[in-house]
Amino acid sequence: MNIALIGYGYWGPNLARNINQHPVMDLYYICDNNENRISEAKKLYPHTLLTHNTDDIINDENVHCVVIATNPSQHYKLAKQSLLSGKHVLVEKPMALSFKETDELINIAVSNKLIIFSDFTFLYNGAIKKIDKIIKSGDLGRILYIDATRINLGIFQNDVNVLGDLATHDLSVILSFIEEKPVAVSAVGRCHIKKDIENLAYLTLFYNSDLIVHIHCSWSAPVKIRQMIIGGDKKMLIYNDIEPSEKIKVYDSGITFNYEEKESILIDYRRGDVFVPKYDTTEPLKIMIDKFANCVIKNQQDIKNIQISLKIAQILDKAKLSLQNQGKTILL
Ligand SMILES: NC(=O)c1ccc[n+]([C@@H]2O[C@H](COP(=O)([O-])OP(=O)(O)OC[C@H]3O[C@@H](n4cnc5c(N)ncnc54)[C@H](O)[C@@H]3O)[C@@H](O)[C@H]2O)c1
Repeated sequence: MNIALIGYGYWGPNLARNINQHPVMDLYYICDNNENRISEAKKLYPHTLLTHNTDDIINDENVHCVVIATNPSQHYKLAKQSLLSGKHVLVEKPMALSFKETDELINIAVSNKLIIFSDFTFLYNGAIKKIDKIIKSGDLGRILYIDATRINLGIFQNDVNVLGDLATHDLSVILSFIEEKPVAVSAVGRCHIKKDIENLAYLTLFYNSDLIVHIHCSWSAPVKIRQMIIGGDKKMLIYNDIEPSEKIKVYDSGITFNYEEKESILIDYRRGDVFVPKYDTTEPLKIMIDKFANCVIKNQQDIKNIQISLKIAQILDKAKLSLQNQGKTILL
């Protein structure tokens, strides 16, 4: 399977390494319009074809799949060109800059029987897969809230705001954890540095049930925090991605209301044991690349991946609208 990688910046080299190590993939082409990045690629992959011109890839019939790891504003154009020239596409998150573009790419892929797949790396992360199992086993009880924080002194992007850049990770995970779909969103944020590009934002998802999800993203924080608190009515869980090994902690803690007392409500606080579960530590990108390869081999779309791409695009579109309207709640 001949793979062409477009975009060899920060993330591209991680994709290149995993493609190169995959048993059925051949890292056939690397493309970047920055000559320095091409020189870097040449040092590690002397036998791979190198180019700064994406047309070389689009027009090459030997290329079976195109992997796109450029800045998000380039995703739609490059994915569309690749699909229209008969190539399967793996595109970095976010798949495109709007729901309309995302939907169009998926339609082109499906109608041409080509695979389209988005890299939601965290879905293949062992700790996240473990949390998914814990939630679905019912151990936490009914999920009441999810509170996610993804902040650091991050690289300011030119073509997406901080939600498009960072919240995509949390959204992909939360959408896969919880079967119920959000029905409305609200977002507030600020553009302190670049006009119309929020570097700090707070996104809330509302559901028909009393579940509430809040995601705080920032490129302007002095410390790196990658944390998610999941509150169930039986137990609560904290996921800390910065922790080197013990990323998940399940707290047998909760609050019980005793309504039997007629005069007043009695509140019981339960502070029980903390459990630290084990999880698989295989590199998520290796698993993601393999999932994509299997989709291509079987010529079968990953429906979950497609549904999540569409839902994230819809949420981000509505979040933009809410940001422009000082946090107004927007129905999905
Ligand atoms: N899945 C993850 O965990 C993860 C992590 C980081 C970044 N990403 C995603 O990866 C993508 C790239 O991010 P990055 O941080 O590597 O950005 P980057 O700016 O470091 O790299 C992008 C590279 O693409 C090249 N490029 C841009 N347009 C091009 C074009 N038309 N033709 C050829 N080359 C082009 C640039 O020269 C640059 O080298 C983004 O979509 C980002 O959201 C995903």
